[in-house]
Amino acid sequence: MTQSASVRLEGIVKRHGTFTALHGIDLDIRPGEFFALLGPSGSGKTTTLRILAGLESVDAGRVLIDGADVTATEPGSRDVAMVFQSYALYPHMSVAQNIGFPLKMIGTPAGQLDQAVQDAAAKVAISHLLDRKPGQLSGGQQQRCALARAIVRQPRLFLLDEPLSNLDAKLRLETRAELRKLQRSLGVTAVYVTHDQEEAMTIADRMAVFMEGRIVQVGTPHEIFRKPATATVAAFIGTPPMNLLPAVLQGGQVRMGKASMPVTVPAGAQAGEVTLGVRPGDLRLGAAGIPARVEFVEDFGDSSIVNLEAAGHRVKLRAGELPSVREGEGVHLSFDPAAAHLFDRATGQRI
Ligand SMILES: Nc1ncnc2c1ncn2[C@@H]1O[C@H](COP(=O)(O)OP(=O)(O)OP(=O)(O)O)[C@@H](O)[C@H]1O
Ligand SMILES: [Mg+2]
Repeated sequence: MTQSASVRLEGIVKRHGTFTALHGIDLDIRPGEFFALLGPSGSGKTTTLRILAGLESVDAGRVLIDGADVTATEPGSRDVAMVFQSYALYPHMSVAQNIGFPLKMIGTPAGQLDQAVQDAAAKVAISHLLDRKPGQLSGGQQQRCALARAIVRQPRLFLLDEPLSNLDAKLRLETRAELRKLQRSLGVTAVYVTHDQEEAMTIADRMAVFMEGRIVQVGTPHEIFRKPATATVAAFIGTPPMNLLPAVLQGGQVRMGKASMPVTVPAGAQAGEVTLGVRPGDLRLGAAGIPARVEFVEDFGDSSIVNLEAAGHRVKLRAGELPSVREGEGVHLSFDPAAAHLFDRATGQRI
C-alpha cells in the first residue's frame, strides 16, 4: 500500500547568481492532499518542485518530508516520483521498459518487476500498448506512460510539473479528471504545478498562489476565489478574472468619477484610494450605476460576456442570457454592495 507523505518547506531561498528565484517560501502540505502550485510564468513554481524532488539545491531554508529533514538528501533516496511536462520517455525503450525503468534501477527481480509494470499500466489504461515505443504513441498515451512510470515505485510523494500542457483542450479535461481519480485511489500526496488557474481550481484540494518568487496566498480554491488576498491574485483567478477599477472609498460608498456605488465596508477600513474589484458574474446592466459603453458581446450559447469600457477601463460582465445591447450603446453597471472586493490602492492588499 502506498503511504502518503506530509511536506514542509521552511524559509526556502533560491538564487541564480544575483537573481533571487525564491524569496523565503514557507509551505505545509498534508498527507494525501492534491496540492497545486499556481502562478504566472517565472513565478518560481518549477523551482519549488525541483527543490522538493532534490534536483535543485537551496541557498537557505529546509525541506521536510514526513517530518524528516531531506534538504541534503539525494533525489533517489527521497521516495518521490516526478512527472515532467516533456514526459522525458526513453525513445529506444518499449513502453513496458520505460515504466519498469525505476524498478530496474533499484535491482527489482524480473518477475516482481513485470507484475508491477502490468499493475501500473492497468491503472492508467495502457495495458495494450506495452510493446510499443514512445514514438508510436499519441500525446495522451505518452502522458499516461509517464504517469505509469511515476506510480510504479509506489512513491509517497508525487510531483507533477504541468503534466497536461501538451494535450489538446478536450483530452486535457478528461485526463485531469482521471489524474485526480488516480491520485485518490493511490492515496498518494500530489504536488501539481500549473499556470492555468482553472486547472488548479478544479483539481486541487488546496493551492498556493505564487507571484515573483513569493507565495501570496494559500487556501482551498473556494477560499481563494471568494477572498483573494491581493489585487494581483484577484486579477489572476476566475474566468474571466475579476474587474479591477480605481475608486475612492468614503463612508459606505465607492466613487468613480461622478458615479457612486454603495459597498459593504469591512470593519476598520480607512477612507481613501482603493482598487474596487467586482467579478464579471456579479455585475448587472441597469438604468443606474456606473456609466459604461458596450464594446462587443461574446456569445457562448449558454452564457455571454459583455465587453465594456467604463471611465477608460476595460470591464467584462458575464450574463446568463444574451442581453439585448448593441455595440456602442451607453449603459449603466451595478452590483450588490456585498459583491465588492476592496484592495488598498498603494499596497494591493485586501482591505
Ligand atoms: N538555471 C537558472 N538560471 C537563472 N535563472 C533561472 C534558472 N532557472 C530558473 N531561473 C529563473 O527563476 C525564475 C523562476 O523559474 P521557474 O522555472 O521556477 O518558473 P515557473 O513558475 O515554473 O514558470 P513557468 O510557468 O514559465 O514554467 C524565472 O525567472 C527563471 O528565469
Ligand atoms: Mg515551470
